Amino acid sequence: MNKEELLQKINDQLIFELASGYEYKQMASEFNAMNWSGFEHFMEVQAAEEYTHAEYFRKWLEEIGYKVEYKTIEAPKAEYEKDILSIIKAALDHEKEVTRRITELYDAAIEIKFYQAYSLLQKFIDEQVEEEDTFETLVAKIERTENSNAGLSIIDGELARRQ
Ligand SMILES: [Fe+2]
Repeated sequence: MNKEELLQKINDQLIFELASGYEYKQMASEFNAMNWSGFEHFMEVQAAEEYTHAEYFRKWLEEIGYKVEYKTIEAPKAEYEKDILSIIKAALDHEKEVTRRITELYDAAIEIKFYQAYSLLQKFIDEQVEEEDTFETLVAKIERTENSNAGLSIIDGELARRQ
């Protein structure tokens, strides 16, 4: 891989961040339909965060002199089971996929000694530690309720307060 190819892949990551936001907005919509407004709010905030990640990549690419190319964003998964745990687990899997992609980019940057890309990708590697932890903790909390509506309602209330 050369620098130009890596820049293209970073551009693709920008698109994947937008796709992540799109996916999370669909999940928020699922929660809205299920009347879990705290979970809905949580996923809307998460979606907004993905768009700030995309903007960070855009600014960096532009600063390095790369012309950003916006591409087709895949539609989110349309059919979710009407089940909180499976939706949040899908979000965790999605975050793991983001981590895998960022790590791959980092490996490539090191291989071709693209020094300027190191700190950009390191920032997102650090970010992914937090993202995976957020969803892993949430999965554990949901599992602990053993599907009791009382327990899920407490979590829903907590999530409603996410900034
Ligand atoms: Fe992200």
